[in-house]
Amino acid sequence: MNTFLWPRITQATKNAVMTLLDKGEISHYDRAGIFITFEDRWAAMTDRKYALVVSSGTAALHTAMVAAGFGPDDEVICPAYTFFATVTPIFQTGAVPVLCDAGHDGNIDPAAIEKLITPRTKAVIITHMWGMPCDIDAILTICRRHHLLLIEDCAHAHGAVYKGRPVGSESDIAIWSIQGQKIITGGEGGVFVTNNTDFYERALLFGHYNKRCKQEIRPDSPHYDYAETGFGLKLRAHPFAIAMANEQLDHLPQWHAAKNQNAAYLSNKLAAFPELEVPVPAHTGDQPAWYAYTFRLRPAMLAISAAEFCRQLNAAGLDEASASGSTRPLNLLKLFQDPAPLFPQYAGKIAYKPGDFPVAESQADQAIRLPIDVNGGAKVRRTLDRWAQIIGDTIANNRAR
Ligand SMILES: Cc1ncc(COP(=O)(O)O)c(C=O)c1O
Repeated sequence: MNTFLWPRITQATKNAVMTLLDKGEISHYDRAGIFITFEDRWAAMTDRKYALVVSSGTAALHTAMVAAGFGPDDEVICPAYTFFATVTPIFQTGAVPVLCDAGHDGNIDPAAIEKLITPRTKAVIITHMWGMPCDIDAILTICRRHHLLLIEDCAHAHGAVYKGRPVGSESDIAIWSIQGQKIITGGEGGVFVTNNTDFYERALLFGHYNKRCKQEIRPDSPHYDYAETGFGLKLRAHPFAIAMANEQLDHLPQWHAAKNQNAAYLSNKLAAFPELEVPVPAHTGDQPAWYAYTFRLRPAMLAISAAEFCRQLNAAGLDEASASGSTRPLNLLKLFQDPAPLFPQYAGKIAYKPGDFPVAESQADQAIRLPIDVNGGAKVRRTLDRWAQIIGDTIANNRAR
């Protein structure tokens, strides 16, 4: 039985939604009600001037790319290993995604970024994979040196901290998903943050036409003339989703404290097995969000694929373990191998293939994920003991082969 139930819907979550229903707060044309509460809290949490809620993380990424002004002459360096929605909205902008291999931690490799920069490079997009912060200082240094924008996909990293600073607080634009599996969730939804007023106004125009644009865009801004129609799209969030997410935000610090303890407890148990590599925060002051606890098999010590190892874990009762799935290197996906049938303007511009990103591919191939509970205590520790026992037994069975 899967002991990890997510999302966590409590009476408080239900009350948050019922309160809106009782007030008839079911749609906002402008910045009002629960949107103000949540956006203000999110902006404060990430130390940003503006936060904007949208209908999904994918919509937030699309908004970020349009706000940043991506266009057909631009190249954008993107992680090869991420969930595809980090990158796929770029096809709507005409800009060319230039995929970049991962480093040993599974995150985009800063050294590899620099090698891909050309005179057409406009921006770098990064994902804090599974909630483990990227090396933001190294990446920011490269972006500043080459005058590139930095966009952070923090969909796995709600509340994560890099060297004591919140993720999402130092880039030009950062986004989060609050889809059903995420640490803070409204079922569906996304959040966009920036300090840049131009980017914010373009983000408003992109998905929030008319009232909200008229309310917030500076009357003397060139964007104001387009306030009524915006770009013609509507990507507004649902107030119920934001009310759910807002209630969960109250618990985030306490969830992080428990997750950190649980992850450390599990790592301590798994340290007994040299065949495994456990996730370790790279810098003092890093606090991963532990969206997933990802450990890797060392192929030189255990000749088994992660997929098969995971199947054996599941068969032995560790149902919560998972491997690969839809988050896999983008060069393995048809859209990045041959986008032209869907996007003819990309004909001849993108032709990735298996083997192009050896580190990303091996990181993804060797990774096994476990959820990390937001509760602490003896019961959770007993579950972790059981997981470690099953993992140890499975290693022993495979060593013997
Ligand atoms: C890294 C990453 N980016 C973006 C997204 C897209 O978010 P959404 O599902 O809210 O559109 C996800 C969703 O799983 C994700 O994992």
